[in-house]
Amino acid sequence: MRILLVGATGTIGKAILDVLQDRHEVVAVSRSSAPLHVDLGDPASIRSLFNQLGTLDAVVGAAGAARFKPFPLLKDEDYAFSLQNKLMGQVNLIRYGIPALSDAGSITVTTGLLAQQPMVGSAAVSLVNAALEGFVRAAALEAPRGIRINAVSPPWVRVADQSPGAPGMAGLSAHQVALAYRVLLEGDQTGQVVTP
Ligand SMILES: NC(=O)c1ccc[n+]([C@@H]2O[C@H](COP(=O)([O-])OP(=O)(O)OC[C@H]3O[C@@H](n4cnc5c(N)ncnc54)[C@H](OP(=O)(O)O)[C@@H]3O)[C@@H](O)[C@H]2O)c1
Repeated sequence: MRILLVGATGTIGKAILDVLQDRHEVVAVSRSSAPLHVDLGDPASIRSLFNQLGTLDAVVGAAGAARFKPFPLLKDEDYAFSLQNKLMGQVNLIRYGIPALSDAGSITVTTGLLAQQPMVGSAAVSLVNAALEGFVRAAALEAPRGIRINAVSPPWVRVADQSPGAPGMAGLSAHQVALAYRVLLEGDQTGQVVTP
């Protein structure tokens, strides 16, 4: 498959690249990649990327930011940023990605456990994660040409220099999380939100 991976230099994105690159052709991008790059916060940038890419078999979104801040301190700008970046950035990956996909292609985006298990400071993050999950389930019902739409909802991901099992280090390795993306890419599920 020819797969577009957005956020390919991140903690999760690098691990996704690792589990895909021996089996598929991966076009790896982020804001700072070259020559191809994309900013999920800018719809024109997403459209421009797809215009340059030609036909793809799959799109993976492993990027997108939202503001983590105590609820009383969240300002209008924090909501606007969170909605425009992690939510609409990935919604637009789906919207603009569908015409670029081959029949029976797939799009997999990234939400996060804070959708279901909020914590103090997560109001804006929980908002966009839960909204994206609702969008994925609904959009999958109407996706054309057998195109599948799914999300991975990672828990906290351990970074490489943290030893597994150390106190307070609950969470999965990025590799374990990345395998959930591969299962969705290579399987036949649609409208699913998968928690690794
Ligand atoms: N890590 C976790 O524990 C965890 C848990 C649950 C959910 N998540 C979600 O998973 C996603 C990835 O997390 P991560 O920890 O891997 O992040 P990360 O390590 O900060 O990496 C983010 C990646 O996305 C790219 N990126 C950032 N903003 C972008 C934008 N506006 N447009 C395009 N690319 C952008 C970055 O590269 P550039 O800087 O070059 O753009 C980088 O490749 C995020 O949405 C995060 O909320 C993470």
